[in-house]
Amino acid sequence: MKLAWVTGASKGLGKALCEHLLNQGWHVTGISRQQSIENEHFTQFVCDLSLPGNLAAVQFEALNASELLLVNNAGTLGEIGAVGSISDDEMIHTVSLNLTAAAVLTNRFLKQTQHVDCKKTILNISSGAGRNAYDGWGVYCSTKAGLDMFSSAVAKELLINGNQHTRIFSIAPGVIDTRMQEQIRTANSAQFSNAERFRKMHQDELLISPEIVALQLVTFISKRDQFSEVCLDVRNMEFR
Ligand SMILES: NC(=O)c1ccc[n+]([C@@H]2O[C@H](COP(=O)([O-])OP(=O)(O)OC[C@H]3O[C@@H](n4cnc5c(N)ncnc54)[C@H](OP(=O)(O)O)[C@@H]3O)[C@@H](O)[C@H]2O)c1
Repeated sequence: MKLAWVTGASKGLGKALCEHLLNQGWHVTGISRQQSIENEHFTQFVCDLSLPGNLAAVQFEALNASELLLVNNAGTLGEIGAVGSISDDEMIHTVSLNLTAAAVLTNRFLKQTQHVDCKKTILNISSGAGRNAYDGWGVYCSTKAGLDMFSSAVAKELLINGNQHTRIFSIAPGVIDTRMQEQIRTANSAQFSNAERFRKMHQDELLISPEIVALQLVTFISKRDQFSEVCLDVRNMEFR
């Protein structure tokens, strides 16, 4: 049985990813505050991942699994605006959800499945904003850069420990037509100097649907061993 855990499963990219995985025969546990998928092979774990105290409740039971997947997808842009003008609590919330939860769930996944001998993949959903600085998104950019570095360090550990069945990746998914983009379009140019560019991209219908990106990610999971890099971008992915 192929078992997947996907955070942020109720909307956007995470929901589309769960649907593709279910279509391809995976049993999926979605982790988010709300549930929006009904399927006999889907289990919802209701959890606010921004509260570190909740993370110990996430269990990875994987006995007899033939393949395992963890997707750390839940994320938030947080409050848009220059550092010095935004709320401390919002900053803490953004770091907790985007980086702390992904790191702790990766730790729990590796620990709890260490005796299950099968192919294991961890996908951390990063962003181009982790690789290029944007004003108004300082905390978001930092958490995504952190996710890239965390993934690179864990990949090194897996290699040193001879764990060839387990791979970890940090993947930027491109500009996707989700609620996160709706939030970006509400910003004014004093909060975020690129706001108008994002509104124009939407007007010009340049946003990609979550379904298309999710399909690329599911293809990536099945062909992961074609890729040696840890930090990737769906816009540059070529499959053989
Ligand atoms: N959209 C883009 O253009 C874009 C670009 C680059 C990277 N990304 C990344 O792609 C990922 C998915 O983004 P999206 O655009 O699909 O966002 P979205 O539509 O806003 O969906 C976010 C998901 O995260 C979950 N979530 C939010 N807060 C949570 C919390 N406290 N605890 C548990 N789950 C929580 C939400 O579920 P609940 O509300 O039910 O909890 C929802 O399922 C994010 O990591 C984002 O940074 C997106």
